[in-house]
Amino acid sequence: MGLLKLENVHVALEDGTPIVKGVDLEVGLNEVHAVMGPNGSGKSTLSYAIMGHPAYEVTEGKILLDGEDVTEMAADERAQRGLFLAFQYPHAIPGVTVTSFLRSAINAVRKARNGGVEDPMPIPAFRTELLAQMDRLKVSRELASRYINDGFSGGEKKRVEILQMAMLKPRMAVLDETDSGLDIDALRVVAGGVKELVGPNMGALVITHYQRILDYITPDYVHVFVDGRIVESGGPELAKQLEADGYDPFIEQTPIPATVGSET
Ligand SMILES: Nc1ncnc2c1ncn2[C@@H]1O[C@H](COP(=O)(O)OP(=O)(O)OP(=O)(O)O)[C@@H](O)[C@H]1O
Ligand SMILES: [Mg+2]
Repeated sequence: MGLLKLENVHVALEDGTPIVKGVDLEVGLNEVHAVMGPNGSGKSTLSYAIMGHPAYEVTEGKILLDGEDVTEMAADERAQRGLFLAFQYPHAIPGVTVTSFLRSAINAVRKARNGGVEDPMPIPAFRTELLAQMDRLKVSRELASRYINDGFSGGEKKRVEILQMAMLKPRMAVLDETDSGLDIDALRVVAGGVKELVGPNMGALVITHYQRILDYITPDYVHVFVDGRIVESGGPELAKQLEADGYDPFIEQTPIPATVGSET
């Protein structure tokens, strides 16, 4: 059974504009799927819809998590079931520190898993785990007491997204361009963090523009996403082909009139 299953998913913006136009995808535990596609093709829209962002409406099709239909569920209910999204553009929450944000997120998931009864992680255990993960992911300790994403550099935001993932230990992680804006060392650290978590307890959907992160996290499948649809799927070699040839071979070309070029 697929961990995350998308069945003919269509997504529209609040004004009704269709963006995602029928996506079928199945990601299992211990699998990494990469999604690559041109700017504006709808990759982030798809990831928001998977997470249950209220501004993105699933107009047709279904989203299943562990076989359960979550299409109509709120984002927090999906998170409690083990779904995680690392945002392409993480938002700042002035007034909420990284530490308190992580504690609330973890405790909300623990509560849900404990039948709705509060089961907060003891503070010493939380602190030990947080410091260990920060060291492992090379997140500066100074960030822990700052307001989340408030004034963070692009790379710091991305690292903190992965820190959240490492702390929450989701079953299914969607990473929307987590590699963009990372320096070379950070890319290695972040990719290593993802790789360590993917296994019998987690699957991942990695949205990216670059082959580079896929050198560290070898995908089992690569999907080419154009104009709201998966137009091609293959193995890791497909990402290399994209890097060499771009998306042109996958974008429907306006037919060239038969007369053009016939004079030569
Ligand atoms: N909230 C919104 N309001 C208006 N337009 C939106 C909104 N969200 C998405 N869109 C539009 O939907 C289309 C798809 O956007 P999306 O962010 O999903 O693309 P993407 O594939 O993630 O692109 P990129 O590679 O640049 O991140 C774009 O034309 C975008 O302008
Ligand atoms: Mg995007």
